[in-house]
Amino acid sequence: RLSEFRGLRAGALRLSVVTTSKYFIPHMLGPFCERYPGIDIQLNVGNRQQIIDRLEAGDEDFYVFSHPPENIDTVSTRFLVNPLVVIAPESHPLAGERSVSLVQLAREPFLMREPGSGTRYAIEQFLHRHDLRLNVKMTIQSNEAIKHAVMSGLGVSILSAHTLTFGGNAGLVELQVEKMPITTSWHMVWPKSKTLSPIADRFLQYVHNEGRRLIEGEFKRVGFETREL
Ligand code: PGA
Repeated sequence: RLSEFRGLRAGALRLSVVTTSKYFIPHMLGPFCERYPGIDIQLNVGNRQQIIDRLEAGDEDFYVFSHPPENIDTVSTRFLVNPLVVIAPESHPLAGERSVSLVQLAREPFLMREPGSGTRYAIEQFLHRHDLRLNVKMTIQSNEAIKHAVMSGLGVSILSAHTLTFGGNAGLVELQVEKMPITTSWHMVWPKSKTLSPIADRFLQYVHNEGRRLIEGEFKRVGFETREL
């Protein structure tokens, strides 16, 4: 036990996470780093495809995805819900509607994430399931740029509710669209061939307990559902 404690006093924790999780991972890291101040954290951020490439190289302890790749031998644990919601500017004519149809959504100018994005991947699966095509007006490589483009009236989009929670939702509203939100989940992922270090193991426990509760608390506070829909 003593040696385990020593193992947690100093060392590194390396994470590669998809861009959408950058809204909550740092909030989880805060209390963890306070408890273990000797641990060096390295956090890489990229879109889903970039994080898949990093997972293949395998240099980090954990990879955070909402859609882990299926063709790589990994261990994956689910820790948090990730609803994708339709966002529009506050002044949008559909903002007060109780139920917007998918056909109505499809007519709106739509701002889409870039190829390689997990958000886009989830939207494409949803469109396929519902035999729907969107009126894509722009492809934008960042959640933040999409939020600002929506605010400025360029169109509507579908983004993770996490981008609105800690990221703020000023000027934006969620449209009540049928069959929405698209519900996915966040996963901690690592290569099956890898043994977790004592630090990584402790972090995994922390994420599944306090870390998860911390994010869910904030999520509820701003009015999003944390249960599986
Ligand atoms: P993205 O991934 O940041 O690449 O869109 C988010 C996700 O996997 O849901």
